[in-house]
Amino acid sequence: KKVVLAYSGGLDTSVILKWLIETYQCEVVTLTADLGQEEELDGLEEKAMKTGAVKAYVEDLREEFVRDYVFPAFRANAIYEGQYLLGTSIARPLIAKRQIEIAAKEGADAVSHGATGKGNDQVRFELGYLAIDPTIKIIAPWRDWDLTSRTKLMEFARNHGIPVPQTPAKPYSTDRNMLHISYEGGILEDPWAQATDEMYTMSIRPEDAPDKPEVVDITFYQGDPVAINGEDMSPATLLKNLNTLGGRNGIGRVDLVENRFVGMKSRGVYETPGGTILRLAHMNMESITLDREVAHLRDSLIPRYAELIYNGFWFSPEMELLQKMIDDTQTDVTGRVRLKLYKGGCYVLGRESDRSLYDESFATFEDDDVYSQKDAEGFIRLNALRLRIRKMAHKKRSLN
Ligand code: ARG
Ligand code: SIN
Repeated sequence: KKVVLAYSGGLDTSVILKWLIETYQCEVVTLTADLGQEEELDGLEEKAMKTGAVKAYVEDLREEFVRDYVFPAFRANAIYEGQYLLGTSIARPLIAKRQIEIAAKEGADAVSHGATGKGNDQVRFELGYLAIDPTIKIIAPWRDWDLTSRTKLMEFARNHGIPVPQTPAKPYSTDRNMLHISYEGGILEDPWAQATDEMYTMSIRPEDAPDKPEVVDITFYQGDPVAINGEDMSPATLLKNLNTLGGRNGIGRVDLVENRFVGMKSRGVYETPGGTILRLAHMNMESITLDREVAHLRDSLIPRYAELIYNGFWFSPEMELLQKMIDDTQTDVTGRVRLKLYKGGCYVLGRESDRSLYDESFATFEDDDVYSQKDAEGFIRLNALRLRIRKMAHKKRSLN
């Protein structure tokens, strides 16, 4: 028996690694995916081997993450419940996919992860596994073991020579990648309790942001950002730069209560500096390049699309269908958007495109000869017809 474990190198997944070996007498291969969590990855391979892994993969998946997961979702302006930019949700399918690929390569018959039995992440990992390998076995230690408290976990670690971090554990749980950092649980569980200033990591307080606004140009090609201030960049480099720009201007902090797929409400605080800028820029690029009905139809599907990502159905037939449709809308979403970043706010200054559908000669309030104002009279009267009929019928029955 061989298991591929999603391994961060922290206390929890180190305990899981040992626990798997002990409980199943199996071999464990670890995968540590660098998705931009900005944690020290040097020495992780040695650490995994020392804890008992037979092989340890440490892989830089940042470009793939941004190119094949983040950007497709931003082509859709995806947002969950109007506020959450899906930073964690969108990362899980990629980790799941890599675990299954490694399982195939290593001849492993099972995969394992460190998500709890109460959250969304377990669903995302496991739907991902099963969609790609329908017969893979799944081990979710948090649902199985009796290490149900922090104390028991620490005790297990000490008894098994797993180094317990000396710095006190953060009073909340976090998950970070190129797109965002999330904070939930612990002291944040009371939805009235205010998050402390020290908690935030990717952005400064809007109040502390520079008094001088920063102007930035983002160039799009077929729905994806390709350059900042005229400088071409790879997807991951571009998002990293947007994070820096947004972070130093206090952009992208959100405090919300969301509905988890498993049923309960959960309070979360997020920092998504680059993503917040990117979404606004993209929507404005679309505003001059997308046909109205195409835009409205696509927009009507976004709550569903975001829900699929949130609920873990990244690899599903309905997702493939929606993504094809969304990508198809993006062929002319090319051009440039100029924005101003200022004290937590992100404002559009202008947009331009050589594929633009915006036509000044139609929009102008000045005298023009392309649009006949006389035509509007019949347009309005016919649109009003059923409204007038309804009112007249009401009158006849002396209703209001
Ligand atoms: N609530 C967010 C989501 O469901 C963030 C989850 C964070 N996960 C974590 N293991 N800390 O996408
Ligand atoms: C977890 O339960 O592992 C984190 C929270 C979530 O997945 O929603």
